[in-house]
Amino acid sequence: MKKILTLLSILVSMHAMAQQAFVANYDESKIAPFTLPNPLQKPDGTIIQSAKAWGNQRNYWLGKYEQMMFGKMPKKKIAQSYQLISQTDILQGKATQYVWKLTLAGIYDVTVLGVLPKVKTKVPVFIGLNFCGNQTTSNDPNIPLFEKYTVCNNKPAYINNKGQEESRGAWASRWQFEKLIAAGYGSITIACGDFEEDKPDGYLTGVRTLLAKELGLQADEWSANGAWAWGLNRTVDFLEKIPQIDAKRIILHGHSRLGKAAIWAGANDSRYAAVISNESGEGGAAISRRNYGENLWRITNSFPHWFYKDYKNYAYKENELPFDSHILLSLIAPRPLYIASAVGDQWSDPKGEFMGGQQAEPVYQLFGKSGLGKNEFPALNTPVGQHVRYHIREGNHDINAYDWDQYIDFANKLIK
Ligand code: GCU
Repeated sequence: MKKILTLLSILVSMHAMAQQAFVANYDESKIAPFTLPNPLQKPDGTIIQSAKAWGNQRNYWLGKYEQMMFGKMPKKKIAQSYQLISQTDILQGKATQYVWKLTLAGIYDVTVLGVLPKVKTKVPVFIGLNFCGNQTTSNDPNIPLFEKYTVCNNKPAYINNKGQEESRGAWASRWQFEKLIAAGYGSITIACGDFEEDKPDGYLTGVRTLLAKELGLQADEWSANGAWAWGLNRTVDFLEKIPQIDAKRIILHGHSRLGKAAIWAGANDSRYAAVISNESGEGGAAISRRNYGENLWRITNSFPHWFYKDYKNYAYKENELPFDSHILLSLIAPRPLYIASAVGDQWSDPKGEFMGGQQAEPVYQLFGKSGLGKNEFPALNTPVGQHVRYHIREGNHDINAYDWDQYIDFANKLIK
């Protein structure tokens, strides 16, 4: 018994040392050479040649990502109902703000916020999860305070990780409702924590546990990213029923960890007209094999709940994975994809994010579309690419007015 305890304490302290010892690599010359798998290569070694053959190949990859990285995506359909909680005129009458309660499987409620331009025709919308509660996206007092756990915890806006009155509008700059409305777009958002609180035991109070029976999946068969992505896709089921919304023009976006969830959601659900990854980094758009900035080891240690439990086994063995981020991104093809980085956010590995997008090219080409093509890594604030577009802007880890100007422009050109 004593020996076991000593061994355990050695293991615990080794783990703690390893945590402390992590030093992110920011030196391009220290990246070990690697070869990226070909998205078009079938398990039997042959290369697919047509867009028609992509359907099966895409399913093959989805299966691999389920098995190794994000866990199973629930396939069972569940009943849904919704209720309008409030409807308010905002932005000097230019928009209507809706708060809906969406009930999943008759037992699980989430709160959806919608801001839609007041026009007579159906409108395209952007949809994305928020980190710290719907009330953080705008100052409007009609938005209910999010009552579950959030990762925000700075007083006085949040106390014990719960949003207070002072948190209203705290992240409005990340949502830019005024800009979107002026451009003719609506915006839909839900707190990620409404599907699963962002902490290692968050699954206990989220859809992975409370809907386990209805979905036919145990909590440990999938992940927080899976729960967030699934939640987004269920919200699309609901948006399809809202007459003011043009369900053929729903553009999915996500920042950072929620960018990872957005990519996984968009890979699984082809109803999104386009997908936007804003600084999604490791586990998102960035090539893991580069081991630059945050890496697979670090992310699966810091945030074990984000991924399927076995994913951590590939830490420093990224070459053994049959895929990398470019294949995940290629599952969005042929739909337009925007990948954005910030120069002050090296943790997310901007060059790795660019490479992820660029290496998805063969799949876009199958559909006769060009993505990032042969573009070089661009200068600051200079978007490049067509169906796959990329920018690196000045500034830090964030999603700001500059980013939104590019996304609106991208949507105007490719979606409207
Ligand atoms: C951490 C984490 C990233 C994540 C980011 C965020 O920095 O390491 O992987 O993208 O948080 O969500 O803001």
